[in-house]
Amino acid sequence: MMPLTIRLSSKWSLDYRKHILTGSIHKPTLKSYARFFSMNDCRRWIYRKNSTSYDLVAQTQPVPSPDELKPHECLVAVRAVSLNYRDRIQWRNLAGRNVDGKVPASDGAGEILAVGSAVSRFKPGDRVAACFFPTWKSGKFDLGYHQADLGGNLDGMLRDFAVFDQDALVRIPDGWSFAQAATLPCAAVTAWVALVRRGNLQPGQSVCVLGTGGVSIFALQFAKLLGAKVVVTSSSDAKLEKARQLGADHCINYQEIPEWSKSLWDWSGRHGVDHVVEVGGPGTFEQSMKSVAADGHIALIGVLTGFGPPTASLFPLLARNVRLDGIYVGSRDDFEAMVGFLNSHQLTPQIDRRFRFEQTPEAFEYLESAQHFGKIVIEL
Ligand SMILES: NC(=O)c1ccc[n+]([C@@H]2O[C@H](COP(=O)([O-])OP(=O)(O)OC[C@H]3O[C@@H](n4cnc5c(N)ncnc54)[C@H](OP(=O)(O)O)[C@@H]3O)[C@@H](O)[C@H]2O)c1
Repeated sequence: MMPLTIRLSSKWSLDYRKHILTGSIHKPTLKSYARFFSMNDCRRWIYRKNSTSYDLVAQTQPVPSPDELKPHECLVAVRAVSLNYRDRIQWRNLAGRNVDGKVPASDGAGEILAVGSAVSRFKPGDRVAACFFPTWKSGKFDLGYHQADLGGNLDGMLRDFAVFDQDALVRIPDGWSFAQAATLPCAAVTAWVALVRRGNLQPGQSVCVLGTGGVSIFALQFAKLLGAKVVVTSSSDAKLEKARQLGADHCINYQEIPEWSKSLWDWSGRHGVDHVVEVGGPGTFEQSMKSVAADGHIALIGVLTGFGPPTASLFPLLARNVRLDGIYVGSRDDFEAMVGFLNSHQLTPQIDRRFRFEQTPEAFEYLESAQHFGKIVIEL
């Protein structure tokens, strides 16, 4: 362990003392500080290219120095990370994207250890999550944002410490653990944007969510809190039972009933659902089109069945006056609006399983096995 006198610059030690004296350093922050001061090197996982895809490789690198922060930057001790299907896409090279040497995972939460001289939004000890698109603060999407996504073109969250511009961070919901908050940046924001900002979901409407992964379970939970009726499909009766316990109104096993839109159609009194949270892609799109109500909305989100084109006629979209809405996560404003909602509503994120940082490859294998219900978390 490196002696504190070497690690601490005068500004850093003054900041630290100030926060202890003012009582703004709480217990978990002390834990992060202790971790920071006890480490010469910090840990991280990176993707390393192999012949067909990527290996997950553990590395160490020097702990970032608070004294090197730019004026608007914050040093964050990462305390929990969650995985998304997208991490499997990068890991298995399913989208042909070059992520060699990049730190995986867009989603994580932690606490701020130090701030640059011009940081006004946060102070040390604040509990934060990073935005999926660190540069998309508000307003319309721009293709430039796609060039700067965490766990893709930019290093992600699977590391002990990370430095972010203050504009790339949001406060996590009050009273949420880091593990809970780590589930939010991709899956929850996507579900929120799909149903609330873009979908304008109203009480009494109906929603269909496909499968029981991260996006779909958040969509189920938001929809129930907003007074909607929800249909859930899954390959597993046990998972459907869990969805029922979260309020699902109609459950369909899509393996037993491949034409599940018929079951949904009958359940809905031949009306269809007002919103479909379409995470399946080409293999599910026909059933989604057959499930949506006249004047309804399909949020086009995922590629669980691949990146190919739809195989069915798109005519039902016209015939039913359907609004087809491509969704790509959301902005910082979306994230903050969602946190506001979570601060005033009771929602418990569904964490299926937690892994330790050194078990990261096992966590990826578990994601790939698709045994999870909701989210998978890695704790640091
Ligand atoms: N556009 C965006 O902004 C955005 C954001 C987040 C995610 N996504 C995409 O959305 C999709 C879901 O992501 P995620 O992280 O929520 O995934 P995830 O947590 O890995 O979800 C996996 C689950 O999907 C379900 N599934 C697989 N094939 C299915 C099928 N044919 N029909 C219905 N359900 C099926 C399975 O549920 P059961 O075990 O219950 O059958 C599986 O357990 C992915 O394609 C991801 O890339 C896009």
